[in-house]
Amino acid sequence: MNLLKPTDKDTYAVIGNPINHSKSPEIHALFAENTKQPIEYHATLAPIDGFANTIKDMIGLGYKGVNVTVPFKHEAAKLCDVKSYKAYMAGAVNTMTFVDGKIHGDNTDGDGLLTDIQTNLGFPVNHKRVLILGAGGAGEGVFQTILDEHPAILTIANRTPEKAKNIVEKFSHHSMVCHACGYEDLDHQSFDIIINATSTGLSDTALPIPDSVFAEGCLAYDMVYAKDTLFMQQARANGAAVADGLGMLVEQAALAFKIWRKVAPDTQTIMKTLRQ
Ligand code: ATR
Repeated sequence: MNLLKPTDKDTYAVIGNPINHSKSPEIHALFAENTKQPIEYHATLAPIDGFANTIKDMIGLGYKGVNVTVPFKHEAAKLCDVKSYKAYMAGAVNTMTFVDGKIHGDNTDGDGLLTDIQTNLGFPVNHKRVLILGAGGAGEGVFQTILDEHPAILTIANRTPEKAKNIVEKFSHHSMVCHACGYEDLDHQSFDIIINATSTGLSDTALPIPDSVFAEGCLAYDMVYAKDTLFMQQARANGAAVADGLGMLVEQAALAFKIWRKVAPDTQTIMKTLRQ
């Protein structure tokens, strides 16, 4: 176990497996500097079968909270004593706060994505045709938050269509707005905002999506960051505005920081620093 003992400063961590590529320690150090909050933030590798024990040890050592990343977000949700609406709906927690021996769970992924798409990039979701590619944890985690913005259409497509259908059944309450399908069903359909929530960017695999999904003036967003993925290249070739997931990463972290510290960091400055 690589748990560092907290010092006299309030101490937080990101916990995942693997963890060594996480940008969260760097991001939270910039937040702390930006807001003049005297905190410490570590990266913690939890054994695949040892998440609950690691959390227990961290609470015992006096940690104030953690960000949870792959593959523990669902397990984290089960461990919480209290959950926010977003965490409850997503069935996944990315932010834990330890208060008086109890674990509070939040999920800031959906709001982080929306802040980046709507506020930073200037593409409002309301009344727009939105396509989510991928029905894994990442796609499911942001589905409800996007639906809450009242898009005209919210389609989720997946290699395994049953997983997309399960998400629509879970969240849409038979709404006419939501649709689930496989990639082959996307022929002749166009969308204003297309979000790649699959892991294909990490494995340099192309998604079998037709060029027609990219409507004129659309935004193509890949949740993967610091990479020009094949999805982004296809979108650009079809005239889309293209963004990677760095903004979502920073915005979801800022929302977690605000839950813990009650102050919001200036994400624009920090994004500029990280892009450099
Ligand atoms: P995460 O929590 O990051 O979403 P995940 O739950 O393992 O990770 O989901 C990975 C997503 O990428 C899924 O939508 C997966 O499709 P399946 O549900 O059909 O497995 C998708 N994915 C991974 N590799 C893919 C590939 N080569 N082609 C298409 N989709 C792929």
